Amino acid sequence: MRLALLGCGTVGSEVVRLLHEQSADLAARIGAPLEIAGIAVRRVGRDRGDLPVDPALFTTDPLGLIKRDDVDVVVEVVGGIEPARGWLVEALRAGKSVVTANKALLAEDGAALHDAAAEGGADLYYEASVAGAIPLLRPLRESLHGDRINRVTGIVNGTTNFILSAMDATGAGFAEALEEATELGYAEADPTADVEGFDAAAKAAILASLAFHTRVGAADVYREGITEVTAADVASAKAMGCTIKLLCIAARGTDGAGRETVSVRVHPAMIPLTHPLASVGDAFNAVFVEAEAAGQLMFYGRGAGGAPTASAVLGDVVAVARNRLAGARAASESAYADLSVRPMGEALTRYHISLDVADRPGVLEAVAGVFARHDVSIATVRQGPAGGGPAGRGEDADLVIVTHVAPDAALAATVRELRGLDIVRSVASVLRVEGGA
Ligand code: NDP
Ligand code: HSE
Repeated sequence: MRLALLGCGTVGSEVVRLLHEQSADLAARIGAPLEIAGIAVRRVGRDRGDLPVDPALFTTDPLGLIKRDDVDVVVEVVGGIEPARGWLVEALRAGKSVVTANKALLAEDGAALHDAAAEGGADLYYEASVAGAIPLLRPLRESLHGDRINRVTGIVNGTTNFILSAMDATGAGFAEALEEATELGYAEADPTADVEGFDAAAKAAILASLAFHTRVGAADVYREGITEVTAADVASAKAMGCTIKLLCIAARGTDGAGRETVSVRVHPAMIPLTHPLASVGDAFNAVFVEAEAAGQLMFYGRGAGGAPTASAVLGDVVAVARNRLAGARAASESAYADLSVRPMGEALTRYHISLDVADRPGVLEAVAGVFARHDVSIATVRQGPAGGGPAGRGEDADLVIVTHVAPDAALAATVRELRGLDIVRSVASVLRVEGGA
């Protein structure tokens, strides 16, 4: 079995290392030796330290490498949409199996890859694209195919979990925590993808597609990142016995006409400290799957970093290599359910709202009236003197309101109207609450 490796950065270099260290075991597990035919990179002359590989294998011609007759499997760990899409479509159409970690491409145009795989009769595996080392896509794609999945909730971005955990535990600033995550190889080349939630949204699209047998793309996912999360939000969450996590939530539902739908969203949310996802710290990922017969399943592990991701890549390489030797092919994409994706406004959620209000008679009634007008039920109200000073009747007061579950559009409209009230000096923070706090 000869493989073309596209990319030799954080993940690719660890793939090379593992292939070298475990070559005898891999050959035994596959039933044939596994060799690198070539490695496509951007800069052949780049210093790659003590990487155990023949420098003559490096090339800047990925397409030429893919087209070689002696290449059976193409491993893509470059990232981005183009030129990766062109390379992989070419490989798959030519009947070469593809293993990729490229969630951005899968979420942007997974259809092009799946169609090319079907056309070429080739395998397309992408375990490393979601939650790094955690075996998650194979269970969704195979083990749970006899069940019906209702909801997937997870922490699927290591960089943002690292940042939020640091902000919560040590009071570290956002920029400082991001710099450390980048140094550790967790962040994407452009960390905007991580902190603005694009990376998690791509993963949410992949998870929803597999869980609900429906093509869900990045554009179908409602997305908010963590750049607006402040130290005050973190403190407010703590005061409520909660912590803030960037969550990915994909859920089955029904629309007004009783038709089945899915909703897929990524946003920061407060979750109670008793929630199992609350203790997921550092760059770890965890995903909860709720299925009809299996009940609740939780997957936990390292979601980012070179070696953990390379582990998932090599697991896929072994699977596709075995298939090729057996003249077999894995089941193709399952998108038969073709459910429609509901807009975020219809998703049911809860809000935690912190207001700075005038401290005078009638204010609470006016604020409560806004919630009532939008049919949003209030669960708890906490009022204290503005800025947390000694109790007493000053000019302003801090008002913290947590709602019951309501459609997101009604909650957003409530916040819009509150912002327009002259008794509301400012809306200090608005966060969604998940998990029964
Ligand atoms: P890096 O930026 O570290 O590495 C990218 C590699 O691609 C480099 O070797 C680079 O070459 C090569 N490359 C870039 N452009 C080209 C091009 N036009 N032609 C040929 N080679 C090119 O990325 P990562 O290893 O971090 O990520 C790779 C993929 O894995 C991405 O899709 C990412 O989303 C995904 N992933 C990453 C994880 C992580 O923790 N880092 C975890 C899970 C998935 P050169 O070395 O010469 O610069
Ligand atoms: N940048 C990604 C993260 C890498 O932080 O989770 C893993 O996909």
